[in-house]
Amino acid sequence: MYNGPAGIAGMGVYVPEKILTNSELEKIVDTSDEWIRTRTGIVERRVVEGDTATSDLAVPAAKAALEDAGVHIDEVDLILVAASTPDMIFPSTACLVQKKLNSKGAAAFDLQAACTGFVYGLTVASQFIETGMYKTVLFIGADAFTRHINWKDRGTCILFGDGAGAFVLRRAEKGYGLLSSYLAADGSGADLLKIPAGGSCHPGSEQSIKEGLHYVYMNGSEVFKFAVRVFPEAVQKALDKAGLTVDDIDYLVPHQANIRIINSGAERLGISKEKVVVNLDRYGNTSTASIPLALYDLYKTGSLKRGDVLVFVGYGAGLTWGANVVRWY
Ligand code: UT7
Repeated sequence: MYNGPAGIAGMGVYVPEKILTNSELEKIVDTSDEWIRTRTGIVERRVVEGDTATSDLAVPAAKAALEDAGVHIDEVDLILVAASTPDMIFPSTACLVQKKLNSKGAAAFDLQAACTGFVYGLTVASQFIETGMYKTVLFIGADAFTRHINWKDRGTCILFGDGAGAFVLRRAEKGYGLLSSYLAADGSGADLLKIPAGGSCHPGSEQSIKEGLHYVYMNGSEVFKFAVRVFPEAVQKALDKAGLTVDDIDYLVPHQANIRIINSGAERLGISKEKVVVNLDRYGNTSTASIPLALYDLYKTGSLKRGDVLVFVGYGAGLTWGANVVRWY
């Protein structure tokens, strides 16, 4: 049964305090501020310290979203966390967040779609509202990617940062909220971006540590080519499903992986730069948190108007990619 669209009733974000600049990276790995800026667009990123885990980033973002929506935690029916870097294999990060929020009644589970996790998760979370199964869903994208980085690998350590973003989802008026989603995957590209160890394939062992299998591995140029290809395709497919065109977009909010991917996607779609939200210069690639962190920049400055059409587009390990079309209300 279709019960009406899901809408964003409240939003919150959180980033750790510590800033790691390109100049500081120059001191630990063979790179330069100039190379990072021109090849990626990144200037600095936020990084966790000590034993801070993904759930520690998710909780303040979730609290801010609940406050923004004026919703008490007891009203939340489901906590869904999209995380590429969960606290542990199990229990789910969603259950750890539930505990830290002192939520008693809500269901809780994680969703894994790597850097496309926010787009996949928003689609899944919304369906609980659309079917009428739940009234209030707390959906969080959170990642502490830098906990898995090999700081000697200049192909990855310059890219990632940590952060979290959360939505409180509730039913929206007809014609508003989530209008459409397009999701895709191609497991034949699974080897291009991964953390090989820590799962049942290579459980953590002396050997796995020795071989560095617990770090993020990425074939950067292949992932780059993939991202450039799927970005415009995903946006176009989601727009088609919503019965809209590129001209209807007020803001394109892409996953923040590399400015060259974003510029290429925007150019191929024929969308002007003013409509494309970019903040990767300050945060780098925060995986599942990058779309809400970028959206929040618009939200907090009051730039979003009722009726604005927003498109979220994500791509990442799996390989996975997809897009959501949302009408703001
Ligand atoms: O969120 C999930 C999705 N992830 C992505 O979308 C990331 C996609 N990939 C990328 O953004 C880019 O591939 C990178 C930024 C990772 C790399 O940029 P690139 O333009 O593809 O560089 P490349 O790997 O083709 O390397 C070009 C050169 C190489 O040197 P040689 O062989 O030409 O002498 C690299 O060794 O740049 C060198 N290089 C660096 N130099 C300075 C690679 N990384 C660095 C670095 N600093 N950090």
